[in-house]
Amino acid sequence: MALRKLVAGNWKMNGTRAALAELAPIASAAAAAPSLDVLICPPFTLVAEAAIKANGIAIGGQDCHTGIKGAHTGCVAAAMLKDVGASYVIVGHSERRCDNNETDAEIRAKAEAAIAAGLTPIVCVGETEAERDEGRAGIVVAGQLEGSVPPAGTAATLVVAYEPVWAIGTGRTPSAGDVAEMHALIRAKLIDLLGEEGQGVRILYGGSVKPDNAVELMAVADVDGALVGGASLTAALFVPIIEATAAL
Ligand code: 13P
Repeated sequence: MALRKLVAGNWKMNGTRAALAELAPIASAAAAAPSLDVLICPPFTLVAEAAIKANGIAIGGQDCHTGIKGAHTGCVAAAMLKDVGASYVIVGHSERRCDNNETDAEIRAKAEAAIAAGLTPIVCVGETEAERDEGRAGIVVAGQLEGSVPPAGTAATLVVAYEPVWAIGTGRTPSAGDVAEMHALIRAKLIDLLGEEGQGVRILYGGSVKPDNAVELMAVADVDGALVGGASLTAALFVPIIEATAAL
């Protein structure tokens, strides 16, 4: 089943207000590609202003807390993101799993908090290079899905992103065959966990998506969009990814 594709940019810890100038050309490209959704996840400091300047593209956060409010210095609740115009939030990115020791259970709780606040969580999974070399990539990703996908997630309220850790920021990507194999495994696992709803949950590929490999990666079965890091920071690189995906 071909799902409506989502091309998402994760700016990570990049960008001051000047970076918001990139949004206008990205919004123009999105307007010219009505068959897909376009999302930018800037750092927290820019979410509110980005939402004002979004002009039709969706804006999201890069993380949220599991709770709704309270004494958690430095944290941001899903409802706060929603309040300033976000509609998505990334949870369980490998950089947070690694840098902040986030567990599957915590990521699931964040995803549930996001859904409760009316945001669509993008739950990230992916194996390390060592895990792939040991032939354990499928087992690792299946385990992450079991632990971090909210059981009440539906096609309308949940997105999953497969981001092999070794492909992030390295310029290396899995072969189209390896991506197809992993996305088929993720699809089967989502159906296992969510029943029929699992058919419609979008599965993004992330890890060194660039203008020159976007067509090959986005054409793979069960790849329902991209989660782009470095190449989402400038419209010059992100717009060709939007255009390539829209042309499929
Ligand atoms: P790169 O596109 O820079 O490899 O980053 C991918 C990523 O981690 C997106 O969340």
